[in-house]
Amino acid sequence: MLQFLMKGGTPLKGEVNIGGAKNAALGILAAAIMTDEPVVLENLPDVSDINVMLKAISDIGAQVDRLDRHTVRITAGSIHTQKVLFDYVRKIRASYYLIGALLGKYKTAEVALPGGCAIGARPIDQHLKGFHALGARTEITNEGALHAEADALVGRHIFMDVVSVGATINVMLAAVLAEGRTVIESAAKEPHVVDVANLLNCMGARIKGAGTDVIRIHGVEKLHGTTYPIVPDQIEAGTFMMAAAATNGDVMIRNVIPKHLEVISAKLLEMGCTIQEFDDAVRVCGNPDKMYTNVKTSPYPGFPTDMQPQIATVLALANGTSMITESIFEKRFAYVEELNRMGADITVCEKGDVATINGVKGLKGADVTAPDLRAGAALVIAGLCAEGYTSVSDIKYVLRGYEDFDVKMQKLGAQIITVSDEKEAEEFIRRTGGMEPLEPAKEA
Ligand code: UD1
Repeated sequence: MLQFLMKGGTPLKGEVNIGGAKNAALGILAAAIMTDEPVVLENLPDVSDINVMLKAISDIGAQVDRLDRHTVRITAGSIHTQKVLFDYVRKIRASYYLIGALLGKYKTAEVALPGGCAIGARPIDQHLKGFHALGARTEITNEGALHAEADALVGRHIFMDVVSVGATINVMLAAVLAEGRTVIESAAKEPHVVDVANLLNCMGARIKGAGTDVIRIHGVEKLHGTTYPIVPDQIEAGTFMMAAAATNGDVMIRNVIPKHLEVISAKLLEMGCTIQEFDDAVRVCGNPDKMYTNVKTSPYPGFPTDMQPQIATVLALANGTSMITESIFEKRFAYVEELNRMGADITVCEKGDVATINGVKGLKGADVTAPDLRAGAALVIAGLCAEGYTSVSDIKYVLRGYEDFDVKMQKLGAQIITVSDEKEAEEFIRRTGGMEPLEPAKEA
């Protein structure tokens, strides 16, 4: 079983390049099958969620050519079924984008219902509300798939009850090929929503307002091929910003859109870190005397829930008491127990939505388990700060969303590797100086 193994204590220094946004790419891959012409996607991250989506697209008949590690060409004219019932698609939540895309293009879709990270109840009622408004009928099949079908899709005025990234993108996908005008009110404004809209517009769609609360879509008859580079990953960038801050390092994070990182930068500034913004880079210098701060997650441009575990790790090492309020997902503090085993002092209230973090002077290495994708990244950051060795198991979660996470950290000076057995672990420990003796040896 793969694990990250690391020896903490080295401040991260140097430069790191950020890849394309996983969450944008998932919507974009679904959008790409909405035309029969080739769509070339650049800056596609090589992470397991994306590879699952590519396999699903290919298994329903689309031609997927990988031109290089980060570029694929998708030609969907050969799709032979609108049923995506492979068990493996349940592994990724974003497989539900295939419903919007197939429904929009073929007016019928059946997709095995999604899984994804275990971060609380994640309903899809707003997706369904949007599809129904456009004229689709939906049902859950006995096999646990969502079947959607429409005689015709007709544009409507849709008021979302919750601000949902997934529902906004899914309804947008279906609506671009609907008849007439669709308006999505209380739309999500995340950079990935904007990126999917931009790709669709490059394919001939007529979407206005993506990035605001109200998205207006004029349906078109068909879409065409294009070449499109995926936006840089806001969350990968934010994770490296937190790693730089936590280890008191100095890291230039390249290939980012600083505007997307403003709220993350603002929190690091409140803690006393130094941030320099460039056109397509941010530099983060940590501060060994970090101050506490409070964080509340909220939809963009608020503090992203996907950055919550990583900032908790930094705050675990700050002076004073910080509070984190999680307002998007329940069960997003599953990592707290693991962090406390490393010496953090964090309590989660009974309701489960507020964590109180009493800053400690240092963390100690431990064997911990990643409970989900972002929490896994946070535990790696903790391990890079901790005294001694930390192993993070269940890294399959981390690999869902971070490309070459260990290699990128190594380039910044971190002592981290991926190990698959005890022999590799022992070799790494020997090479990096070995375990500290539990008790200092007494002089004779
Ligand atoms: C996406 C991201 C995920 C991120 C989240 C919030 C992808 C693939 N995943 O997830 O990494 O953490 O946005 O930024 O892009 N909700 C409903 N009904 C619905 C849909 C959502 O009540 O039909 C609720 C959810 O339970 C949650 C909130 O709305 O409380 C936001 O969820 P949503 O924005 O939909 O998250 P995802 O699209 O699943």
